[in-house]
This record gives sequence, structure tokens and C-alpha cells, in this order.
Amino acid sequence: MKAKDKEKIAMEVQSILHMNIGDGESSYACNSFLQETAMWKTLPILKHTIKFMANNSVIFSTQCFKIADLRCSSSMNSLLVASTIMDMVHDLCEETKHKSPQFEVCLNDLFGNDFNTMFKMLPEFYSNLKKKKKKKREHFGHCFVSATPGSFYSRLFPNKSLHLFHSFYALHWLSQVPEGVENNIYNIYMSKSSPPNVLEAYQKQFDIDFRKFLQMRSEELVQGGCMVLTIVGRSISDPTSDDCCIIWELLAQSLYDMLKEIIQVRKILMRLAISTGKTQQKLLELLWNHC
Ligand SMILES: C[S@@+](CC[C@H](N)C(=O)[O-])C[C@H]1O[C@@H](n2cnc3c(N)ncnc32)[C@H](O)[C@@H]1O
Repeated sequence: MKAKDKEKIAMEVQSILHMNIGDGESSYACNSFLQETAMWKTLPILKHTIKFMANNSVIFSTQCFKIADLRCSSSMNSLLVASTIMDMVHDLCEETKHKSPQFEVCLNDLFGNDFNTMFKMLPEFYSNLKKKKKKKREHFGHCFVSATPGSFYSRLFPNKSLHLFHSFYALHWLSQVPEGVENNIYNIYMSKSSPPNVLEAYQKQFDIDFRKFLQMRSEELVQGGCMVLTIVGRSISDPTSDDCCIIWELLAQSLYDMLKEIIQVRKILMRLAISTGKTQQKLLELLWNHC
């Protein structure tokens, strides 16, 4: 494939890829409990990082502490993290008799993300902050939330403008399908039946993407700024172990079964078209209207 075509596909994917929108039964907002549960487990690391930044005066020397949640998606999780970070900073300021800074929270995800659902959660978020402020006798700094759409494999923020990057359950999403995996037949990811070149291609793509990610963020972080990144990993080094691949193998199997059914339906339609003299399109319309 030509480089121009590849770039076009990458742009298209960035514009349409998103988690299930809204807050209905099948939305991401209502189905991100696994991520939320795992997120609470990482809080000690977040706390440790914020203490480290306070010890290096990064927090006390700024009027506005800027946080970005990379790949926020459209659930409460990102706002929960933001509010937890603010609490931690505030408690540290109180302990050390410093004034709490203002906060800027930037929510990032791809262009197709359902930011509207996130925005609709903001009134409740701001109202909870107000309640906290009242309890803590107004010492809690103001908070401003905004959205920054775009891929985090590109630049998202001005030079040296962010104090803390947080990314949760997202960095394992590659920027593109690795090159040279055409022989990964019947699979959609690494699996037990993948040839060795496929495993190498996925490893290489992750290396390229992660390097790019670090390079971009290093330009955007202020001196002394930090990142807390939580990535899905595996406990066994073999990339084809069930620990890593089983859900993708099951999904690939389901997609393959669906494809077989579609082929079967097409064959029946072809036979019907010949015997009834109707086009396949017309037959599909008839089927659709009577089902
Ligand atoms: C599992 S969800 C995120 C989880 C979220 N952090 C949480 O805790 O609920 C993964 C998100 O990554 C986003 N994403 C994938 N590739 C991206 C990229 N290159 N840049 C920004 N966001 C991306 C997807 O749109 C999706 O919303």
C-alpha cells in the first residue's frame, strides 16, 4: 500500500474510532467498571508521584496545576481521577501550609470520542467540588475542565505546559495495524497460530508508538513534571499465552463464524436471484421488510 493511502486510512480510523456513546445500557459509560476497579488500585502510585512533585516544588511554585488525562473515553473514570488528584494536591498543600493552586484538567481522546457525554457529567463534577470547597473553607483552588481531541501519538499541547499526564488502560492501543501481518490468517491480533513474523511486527509497532508517545510528551511536560501510565500487560512472557490473547482469539472466532454465515446467505441469494429473476439487492430489501 502507498504511504499516502496508509496516512488516509490512519486519519479515517482516528476520526471514527470510539467507545460506545451515550449513557445507555450498552454504553462505555455504563460498562467501564473493570477499568474503574483497576484504577483504584493504582492510587498509591499516583499519591507517591504527587508527593515526589511536591518535594521538588513543582506543585507549590505554580498558580495553576495542569493535568491531562490521555484517552479519557466517555465515562466518569477520568473525572474521578481528576478529582482524586486535586484532593491529593490540596491535602499536601494543607499539610505544608501552602496555598492550593488552581487546576486545569484536559480530557483527551480521539476526534470521534463522545465528548458530549463527558461534558454532561461536568455539572455534577463541579457541584461536588463546590461542596468540598465549602467543607475545606474555600481553600480549594478553582478547577477548569476542557477537551483536547486528537491522537496522543501526535502533539496535543504547547511546549512545557503540563504538570502531570495520566493515562489509564489505553496505551496498549496501537496507532495502526502493524505492517507485514497479512499472513496472520483467521486472526485479528497475536494468537497461538500466528507465525513468528507477526509477533515481531506487533512488538515493533509497540516500540515505534511508545517511543513517539514519550517524545511528544517530553516536549509538553514542564521541568519536573511527571506521568502516571497504566498499561495492560501480561504475567507470562509468551505473547501468545492465554493471559494475553484469549479474548482476541474468541472475538476472531466469532467474526469468522459471522463471515461464514454472510457467505452462506450470499450463496442463497445468488441462487434465488437466478430462479426468481430479481436482483440480489431487491431480494435483500424484501427480506429486510418482512423480517
Ligand atoms: C478503554 S478506553 C479508555 C479507558 C479510560 N481511560 C477509562 O479508564 O475508562 C480506550 C480509549 O482510548 C482511545 N484511543 C485509542 N487510540 C487513541 C489515540 N491514539 N489517541 C487518543 N485516544 C485513543 C479510544 O478512543 C478509547 O476511548
